[in-house]
Amino acid sequence: GLKYFGAATDSPGQRERAGHEDAYAKYDQIMWKSGEFGQTTPTNGQKWLFVEPQQGVFNYTEGEIVTSKAQKAGMYLRCHALVWHSQLAPWVEAKTDWTPETLRAAIVSHVTKVARHWKGKCYAWDVVNEALNEDGTYRESVFYKVLGEEYIKLAFQTAAKVDPKAKLYYNDYNLESPGAKVEGAKRIVKMLKAAHIKIDGVGLQAHLIAEQHPTLDQHIDAIKGFVGTGVEVALTELDVRLKTPATAANLAQQKEAYKNIVGACVQVKGCIGVTIWDFYDPFSWVPYVFEGEGAPLLWFEDFSTHPAYDGVVEAL
Ligand code: XIL
Repeated sequence: GLKYFGAATDSPGQRERAGHEDAYAKYDQIMWKSGEFGQTTPTNGQKWLFVEPQQGVFNYTEGEIVTSKAQKAGMYLRCHALVWHSQLAPWVEAKTDWTPETLRAAIVSHVTKVARHWKGKCYAWDVVNEALNEDGTYRESVFYKVLGEEYIKLAFQTAAKVDPKAKLYYNDYNLESPGAKVEGAKRIVKMLKAAHIKIDGVGLQAHLIAEQHPTLDQHIDAIKGFVGTGVEVALTELDVRLKTPATAANLAQQKEAYKNIVGACVQVKGCIGVTIWDFYDPFSWVPYVFEGEGAPLLWFEDFSTHPAYDGVVEAL
């Protein structure tokens, strides 16, 4: 069985952009009090942009909003994300004169301070997020350009030193069926293990598409492949977007997609938990990023549940 089924949630500061203040009370009741979720992840508040907005200036206010509620509710907490090219503080990206020495120091300082702040509270940390291109090669982030794959080793090494009990994850999207990117992620696991650096898990973000979703067997193959490298797996950001408006047909496809991926996780020993990336459609990131797509979660705007909710229940 899974350790948890959870939902990520945003701090009030971030979800405000969606409006819907009238929905907060009902939303909070489902999120924190209904027993639907045994785990959460802050969708934004622990990202570099929020926690170290200027070099050496740390601010945990945004991240504390969700992490403290998780603790009070006795939920598993996944912490997200220490080193990522996106939602990076502008000072990291804007600086053009990084040297390997100065960037190493900045990574060590960031990971040390942030992991220390939440030490003992995170079931898992996404230590490095989205380091790969679709073909399995490394993304040309500022980190990779200056340090090569050494930045990945440094991030994991530092996190392991600071919070030895947290499970340390590599997290990325499009890892849910076999292919070049999955091979790239396995290469990262093997690279760290060969260097005797702690890595405990691979996070499959699982941002899926209703109209073109993988089969149960494809998911099982991908997950088994990771478990075979000696790590655990979690579905960390599950959502299944569809072309809006939602119809009976695309909602049925969405149900099958949810059922396949959650079912695959349940069926492979070593896949330990599932997190949906929020649960309430109006608070999803999808419509902001994918034009013409939406309704990717399990609760509609009026708080009725999607057919996919039953698909998840059938899979669990
Ligand atoms: C998204 C958040 O949900 C949005 O609110 C934010 O504007 C952008 O980031 N991969 C990740 C997550 O690892 O952190 C991203 O979350 C979605 C894609």
